Amino acid sequence: MDGKHILIVGSGSVGKRHARNLAALGCRISGMDPRADRREEMASEVKLVAAFASEQEAYAAAKYDGVVIASPPHVHVRQTVQALEAGCPVLLEKPVCPDLKGARALQEAAKRTKAPLLMGYTWRWWPPLADVRRLLDEKAVGAIHHVQFHMSAHLADWHPWERYQDFFMAQREQGGGALLDESHWIDLMLWLFGMPKEVSGKIDKISTLEITSDDNVDLLFTYEDGPRVTMHLDLYGRPHEKFIRFVGADGTIFWSADPNQLSVGRTAAAEWDKTAYRCERNDMFVAVAKEFLAAIDGAPVKTCNLDDGVNVLRVIEAARAASSENRAAAIGD
Ligand SMILES: NC(=O)c1ccc[n+]([C@@H]2O[C@H](COP(=O)([O-])OP(=O)(O)OC[C@H]3O[C@@H](n4cnc5c(N)ncnc54)[C@H](O)[C@@H]3O)[C@@H](O)[C@H]2O)c1
Repeated sequence: MDGKHILIVGSGSVGKRHARNLAALGCRISGMDPRADRREEMASEVKLVAAFASEQEAYAAAKYDGVVIASPPHVHVRQTVQALEAGCPVLLEKPVCPDLKGARALQEAAKRTKAPLLMGYTWRWWPPLADVRRLLDEKAVGAIHHVQFHMSAHLADWHPWERYQDFFMAQREQGGGALLDESHWIDLMLWLFGMPKEVSGKIDKISTLEITSDDNVDLLFTYEDGPRVTMHLDLYGRPHEKFIRFVGADGTIFWSADPNQLSVGRTAAAEWDKTAYRCERNDMFVAVAKEFLAAIDGAPVKTCNLDDGVNVLRVIEAARAASSENRAAAIGD
């Protein structure tokens, strides 16, 4: 217990989770949220050094060992630059921000300030997916020809304590929507296979959800020397499903979140070699928190950095162009 003082900017769902985990790892926590009810909720879950209604008050009151940015995406860049300029290492929740221009501006600011930044694409810390990566490296089912990413989860089920219409996810201008918020899956594609050559597809709002953001994403990615990748993301599906299917020359690897399982099949019949996992969702956030604390102590950021977050936005920018202009779009620099 070395009592690092961490400021959590945004005391909503994931902000409170980071607060609980970092407090359990021995940190002293302060919170910032414009909403009094959110500050009170965080204070009821962890003992706070202080709770602030604005960043100005927070930075005037103390010097922090680290800052977690857990606010809606449209304020991420401004708040992250502010933390870096105060000399604080940052854990930045995904996505970096709603567009590539903002992400590039943050990249420049981060180069200037040199404080470490860990990006919160948390599925990179999920043990079954680390096993998938190892199996792909070992060519366990040969060269991969096709990958199917599938994520479907009705938005009204995400935060049962509030109306989904009031959640930032419903608002396009706050950085909500399937493409930005579920960019976890784009990040995993980049983590597993690197940058694709081009993308085509559609990003739409097609359900009756009362939101201004997109709720349906269907994309096709092609690689110079790699698999075809199809990706479906939606905010209206029930039951919720998250899975990735990797079809190789010698068989298939199938990962699913629920059941928490990894299966490998190599025969024509449905004979799967299954591995069941016991890890729980919070485990990946604890692993992120541990890497953040190590980065504060000077360890290199190793699992996910700002460039990784910017690369996701390069793909998003190309996907938006492909969808609006009805064409295949190259992934730009
Ligand atoms: N890594 C993951 O798996 C994961 C999981 C959930 C959320 N997230 C990300 O975390 C961020 C927050 O998501 P959430 O689910 O906690 O949302 P949330 O709506 O539950 O919480 C966001 C909080 O930010 C507050 N807020 C609004 N404007 C603010 C401002 N200017 N400054 C500070 N706080 C402000 C809101 O009042 C709210 O309490 C998003 O970027 C989201 O994508 C990541």
